[in-house]
Amino acid sequence: NEMLTWQRSGFHFQPAKNFQSDPNAAMYYKGWYHFFYQYNPTGTAWDYTISWGHAVSRDLIHWLHLPMAMVPDHWYDAKGVWSGYSTLLPDGRVIVLYTGGTPELVQVQNLAVPADASDPLLLKWKKSSVNPILVPPPGIGTSDFRDPFPIWYNETDSNWHVLIGSKDSNHHGIVLLYKTKDFFNFTLLPSLLHTSTQSVGMFECVDLYPVATGGPLSNRGLEMSVDLSNGGIKHVLKASMDEERHDYYAIGTFDLDSFKWTPDDPSIDVGVGLRYDWGKFYASKTFFDTEKQRRILWGYVGEVDSKDDDKMKGWATLQNIPRTILLDTKTQSNLIIWPVEEVEDLRTDGNIFNDIKIGAGSSVQLDIGAASQLDIEAEFELDNSALDGAIEADVTYNCSTSGGAANRGLLGPFGLLVLANQDLTEQTATYFYVSRGTDGDLRTHFCQDELRSSKAGDIVKRVVGSVVPVLHGETWSLRILVDHSIIESFAQRGRAVATSRVYPTEAIYNKARLFLFNNATDAKVTAKSVKIWHMNSTHNHPFPGLESLF
Ligand code: FRU
Repeated sequence: NEMLTWQRSGFHFQPAKNFQSDPNAAMYYKGWYHFFYQYNPTGTAWDYTISWGHAVSRDLIHWLHLPMAMVPDHWYDAKGVWSGYSTLLPDGRVIVLYTGGTPELVQVQNLAVPADASDPLLLKWKKSSVNPILVPPPGIGTSDFRDPFPIWYNETDSNWHVLIGSKDSNHHGIVLLYKTKDFFNFTLLPSLLHTSTQSVGMFECVDLYPVATGGPLSNRGLEMSVDLSNGGIKHVLKASMDEERHDYYAIGTFDLDSFKWTPDDPSIDVGVGLRYDWGKFYASKTFFDTEKQRRILWGYVGEVDSKDDDKMKGWATLQNIPRTILLDTKTQSNLIIWPVEEVEDLRTDGNIFNDIKIGAGSSVQLDIGAASQLDIEAEFELDNSALDGAIEADVTYNCSTSGGAANRGLLGPFGLLVLANQDLTEQTATYFYVSRGTDGDLRTHFCQDELRSSKAGDIVKRVVGSVVPVLHGETWSLRILVDHSIIESFAQRGRAVATSRVYPTEAIYNKARLFLFNNATDAKVTAKSVKIWHMNSTHNHPFPGLESLF
C-alpha cells in the first residue's frame, strides 16, 4: 500500500527489510567504507537473533548490502551479537570486539577477525576460539556490561585500551577502562575513566575522542593517538542513556597519566548537558576516516509509529546521513555537527530564492514541485526595530513545553514548514524562536514541531530542540535534509541538530509542499536566501563499478 511504501527513504541508509539499530561504527579498508550495524534478520523489532549487518560504500552515501558479518552461533553470543566496534589497527590488521548475550543473558565481550584480510569486502568473519575474552568484573551487574568502544593504542605504556559502559550501585553512569597487549589478557584499571555527576543510569555505547580547540588541527578529525603534549586538545566523552534514550556528550580533559576524563563544566556532564541531536537519534558512534582525515558520527533514527505499523511496512528504523564532527572554535562550548560533504553530490535541480519578506503571521509557499526529497539551506534576518523593541520577551520559552509553532511570540517562531500538504493541515515546522532575557541578551531557540506532522493515529509527536548560540553579526541559519519520513535539521551550521521521523498521509511524493513561515505577532522576518535542491535517490542505483566485483 502506497501509504507505507512511501515512508522508505530515498537516500538514507536502510536494508531491504527488517529491523536495524546501532551503527557498529565504520572504517575505511582497502578502498571501501565499511558499515556494520545491529540487524535483526528475522523481524521488524529487536529480539535475541540480533546480528551484525554489513554494507560497503565508496562515498558513505551509496551502499552495497553484503551478507551479515556475524550471527548468534556460539554459547557466548547465543542471545545476540550485540554492539561493538571494528577497529583498524595501525599495522593494517582489523579486529572486532563486540558484546555477546549468553543463554543466561550475561553480557560478555568477544573478539572476531576477518577470515581473509586480503578481501577488501571483508565478507567472512572468524570468532576467536578463546571467547569470551571479558566477563563482568566483581561489582558490575551481569546485564550492565556492554559495548566495548573505542579501541586505541597508547605508545606510552604499549597497551591497547578499551572502554566499556556500565552503571554503579547509585545509578550513576560509569566508564570502565581495560588495557591489553594481546586482546586476550586484559587488565581492568582500578579507577574509572568517569562517573557521571548525576544519577542518569546505564551508559550504553560509550565513545571518547579528541578535538582541537584552534589552529590547523581544528578543521579536521583527530585520532586517539594525537600528541597531547602541545595542548590545544580537548576530549569529548559520549554515552547513550539507556532509560531516557538520548545521546549526550560533554567536552573535557583526558589525562593520560591517571586515565581520567574530567568535564570542563561539571554541570554540563555526560547525561545532563549537551546532546548530539535533540530529536530522535540513538546509540551513535564515531569513527576516524583515515581516507579524508575526519571524524564521522553515525546514529540510528528509530520509528515513532506502532510496532504493528512496522510489521506492515516490513522494516523499521533508518540511519542518519553520516555527520562530521569538529569542536566549535568560536564558542568552544559545543560541537559542530554537519552532514558529510558527499551528500551534496545527490543535489539536483537547484532553486534559489532571495530576500523574501515574511510578514508577521504569514506563510509563503516556495514553488519547487514535489518536496519529499530535499536539501535546504536557509538564512533569516529579523527586523531591527523588532529586535530593539523587544524587552524581556518570552524569558521562559522552551521548545518542548511552549506549544510549538502555533504559539505566537514577539520574535518568533519563524522558519520552514516541510512535508506540508497544500492547506497546511499536515506539516513539520523547523523554526527559531528568539527571546530576550532579563539581562537584555537575545537567546535563540531552535525547535522542530512534529505535532501536525501526520493525520495518522498511534504516532509519538513532540516538539524537540534546544537553545543554540547565535553570535554577533550572524544570521539565523537552517540546513534541512528531507527524505519522505525523516527530517534532519541543523541550526547555525551545525551547533544544534534535531532529527524527526514523520509519517504524513497527504504530504507525500509530489503532493509534498514547502513553505516559509513567520508566526511572530509583530516582527518582520526576511529570508535572505533559501537554496533548495531536489535529492537523487541512492537505493535504485547500484554503486558504479561494483558489479565487476561479484
Ligand atoms: C543500544 C543497545 C546496546 C546493545 C545493543 C543491542 O541500543 O542496547 O547497548 O549492545 O543495543 O542491540
